[in-house]
Amino acid sequence: MQGRKILFGITGSVAAFKVAGWVSSLVKEDAQVTVMMTEAATHFVTPLTFGALSGHQVYTDMFSIGAEEMMAHITLSGDADAILIAPATAQTIARLAQGMADNLLSAAVLAAAAPVVVCPAMNTKMLAHPATQRNLATLQELGYLIVEPESGSLACGEVGSGRLAEWETVREVLQRLFAEQDLTQQQVLITAGPTREALDPARYLSNRSSGKMGYALARTARRRGAQVTLISGPTNLPVPPEVNLILVQTAAEMAEAVREHAPAAHIIIKAAAVADFRPKEVASLKIKKQDADLQLDLVPNQDILATLGRERRSDQILIGFAAESNNHEDEGRRKLEAKKADMIVVNDILGKRTGFDVDTNQVTLITRDGAEQLALLSKEETANSIWDKVMTLGKVAKNEAE
Ligand code: CTP
Repeated sequence: MQGRKILFGITGSVAAFKVAGWVSSLVKEDAQVTVMMTEAATHFVTPLTFGALSGHQVYTDMFSIGAEEMMAHITLSGDADAILIAPATAQTIARLAQGMADNLLSAAVLAAAAPVVVCPAMNTKMLAHPATQRNLATLQELGYLIVEPESGSLACGEVGSGRLAEWETVREVLQRLFAEQDLTQQQVLITAGPTREALDPARYLSNRSSGKMGYALARTARRRGAQVTLISGPTNLPVPPEVNLILVQTAAEMAEAVREHAPAAHIIIKAAAVADFRPKEVASLKIKKQDADLQLDLVPNQDILATLGRERRSDQILIGFAAESNNHEDEGRRKLEAKKADMIVVNDILGKRTGFDVDTNQVTLITRDGAEQLALLSKEETANSIWDKVMTLGKVAKNEAE
């Protein structure tokens, strides 16, 4: 979002208060946000709030004759990278669908070359009305991006569809607009998170993987245009938008899901922390203290990455992770060979800002051509750097041509 110029249009819905948080999130991510409000919107939240949050003047009136606002509808949209209209009322949606220019917001949209993202928010019946549906369809035909409202309890007391979408969903749509679409036509398969190997109905063996790195890979791949299947062990993470998520518990379930989905994939990334072993027996009833044998018998799980390395087609790109506490590069190289991967991403699990459950990472990318250490980055930035590297591996262009 850094440096992106977002023209943020706010219209007269109760949900206007929610987007105060969106403006401040964008500003935190170093976007330049300029807010314009319809007259109705100013009855819900004052321009002062958005002025303070965005750090810029808020535009409300096309006919104000202050020097700064002269021709505001042209100048505002002229240099915007994206126009975001949220919440968008039925009234504003109808205005835009008609191509009207009777207030600053609609005139600015009409004068814009930038992509327009519309986030409807209204009463369920207003949303379902054929007129609104027709207007939304018209906007879609005109190339506007509509972020579907969610279902839930609405300010009017009704329960149904019409609630303003969550910021995470909208942020993702904006990110996609700004991302290079270099993974279009790529089918990507990613595994993420830990696996859980049951001991009895109450207990399991697992590890400290949060799944954050794998989910960041899934989100960024989707943003860059890929079709993404994410096979995930148990995590507390939100589902990445527009990703085919398959939830599993055990290594055996993960292996089965990978076996099913791998043939269609051009690129496979095994970011999951798969348990190497599982208990030999799973007790059907809870093991009691007095009955417990203090010895735990384990049997090995299938090495999913190594199996893929043996069985994959030569046009598929295969990438593994290696969570290491010492001898990072040597271990990475050993796993590259042993598992017949095209790249191993080596993680330092002992680093304070690179280990489990943190938002940053510092990895080394090991390929047959050498090793490249990345800087300490957020997991999303690390994921993007991994995709940049994947693009250099030489097989992606071939897939595109097919
Ligand atoms: N992996 C896998 N199936 C397993 C174990 C690991 O697919 N049963 C994959 C992981 O998803 C990761 C890579 O293999 O991409 C390396 O995992 P890691 O745990 O670092 O390596 P191991 O092979 O388990 O080696 P070691 O325990 O000796 O470090």
